Amino acid sequence: MVLEIKIYGEEALRVKTEEVKEINPEIITILNDMVETMQEANGVGLAAPQVGINKRMFVLDIGDGIIRKVINPRIEYSEETIECEEGCLSIPGIYKTVKRAKTVKVEYTNEKNEKIVEEVSELLSRAFQHENDHLDGILFTDKVSPVAKRLIRKKLQAMAKRIKE
Ligand code: CO
Repeated sequence: MVLEIKIYGEEALRVKTEEVKEINPEIITILNDMVETMQEANGVGLAAPQVGINKRMFVLDIGDGIIRKVINPRIEYSEETIECEEGCLSIPGIYKTVKRAKTVKVEYTNEKNEKIVEEVSELLSRAFQHENDHLDGILFTDKVSPVAKRLIRKKLQAMAKRIKE
């Protein structure tokens, strides 16, 4: 089932999410729905708060042939950083440069309840960091430069206003 994606200004995007305690059929269904929703929107990632689910999980499909279903992730960030343009399904039409760790070591549980440890770089590293931020109510627009923030402020305000109407 394709779920409704929450848009900038909606409260669901700013909540602190809770650990997944048990991988039960309900969780599996939500993860499958999130994959369907991400694919329909042509996204590379989608986090649970983006569809109004208050849980620490996200899905990723960066086009490497693997659809990752990530539950309760932990991330270790490299000191070395890199700048790259980002967008977000919850912030349509806005693309800005964000500075992030170059590589990350991720530990998470997948939908089969297996512990996965990966060291990732490039697009996958960026996608993990972006989606993991969603789990703490952080959006990429919070992390852009002060100049970029000023440039997108009006667009974001308009987006949030539309949500409240
Ligand atoms: Co996003």
